[in-house]
Amino acid sequence: MSQEEYFFEPERRGPQVLEESILRFGEARAQAPRLEGVPTGIEGLDNLFFTVKWEGEKPRRVPLGGIPRYSVMNVTGVADTGKSLMVEQYALTQAGRGEGVAFITVESPAIFVAMGMRERAKALGIAESAVDENIVFIDVATHNRLQEDLPSLLATLAHVIRTYHVRHTIVDSVTGLFEHKEMAARTVVRRIYNFLKKWHQTGLLVSQKRSSHEEMSAEAAGGYAVAHIMDGTMVFYKDVITSSYKQKLYHLPIGEMIRLFRIDGCRLTGHDTRIHVCEITETGLIRIGPTLIELAQKNA
Ligand SMILES: Nc1ncnc2c1ncn2[C@@H]1O[C@H](COP(=O)(O)OP(=O)(O)OP(=O)(O)O)[C@@H](O)[C@H]1O
Ligand SMILES: [Mg+2]
Repeated sequence: MSQEEYFFEPERRGPQVLEESILRFGEARAQAPRLEGVPTGIEGLDNLFFTVKWEGEKPRRVPLGGIPRYSVMNVTGVADTGKSLMVEQYALTQAGRGEGVAFITVESPAIFVAMGMRERAKALGIAESAVDENIVFIDVATHNRLQEDLPSLLATLAHVIRTYHVRHTIVDSVTGLFEHKEMAARTVVRRIYNFLKKWHQTGLLVSQKRSSHEEMSAEAAGGYAVAHIMDGTMVFYKDVITSSYKQKLYHLPIGEMIRLFRIDGCRLTGHDTRIHVCEITETGLIRIGPTLIELAQKNA
């Protein structure tokens, strides 16, 4: 459909009732998936999402044990904060659990992503055969055509999901799919989001954050207002100790760097909202640590 048709066709046709868009709450309820957590393989993360169980009249908060299945989450942060490590660790974990993963590499060619992941699979104790079998790359970094042609990318993804029984889709990064056309950012993310919903995927979409402004606010969530489209946002950031205030806050000497993490909203389930320390181990594994308050209490 041309742009002109898109804008003028509805006017020519006149308003129509789209029957298939209407469903009773009961029908929606019958089709609604059960809320369950997908273990991420990231120490300290899974219990930050929670749900409520009713004991008689009383609601009790219970950990979900992972990110909500069928959610499409935004993983954001400035450069070198651990976004790629995080989604790769998630992909490896799903492979280890026997679940298929489509991994769309937009930044680095798949063979280089695989190089790093192979080492981390060892650190996670995940069998090579499980990784080989369950992770399927779609290499956009090497095949630039897919970067420009979203319908072909989605057709390729549909093919991969069908052929390899994929339940999880990773995109590292969606930002790379709207380079030089940032006006289209929301449209691109919206289409991917709708597609992943239709195919019952649990998705992690990495979005790059350009400025370090407002790191803990909603603006932190990837810029270009793409965060609003997705079901939730996980923000990674880092802070350098440059003042005695920060020295006291983090209990670290001036000049050191501290990695931080926060769940900046999730519309499918309850979640922790505090700032946590985040660690990258020497084998490249991400670990979510104590909150800043817990850190202060520990050091007091
Ligand atoms: N194997 C490893 N061992 C130790 N540290 C590592 C390892 N791999 C990566 N790191 C550290 O983790 C940091 C974050 O890496 P990562 O690639 O996940 O960042 P990113 O947030 O995806 O950045 P970008 O936006 O540039 O893609 C690296 O800068 C490096 O300091
Ligand atoms: Mg990265």
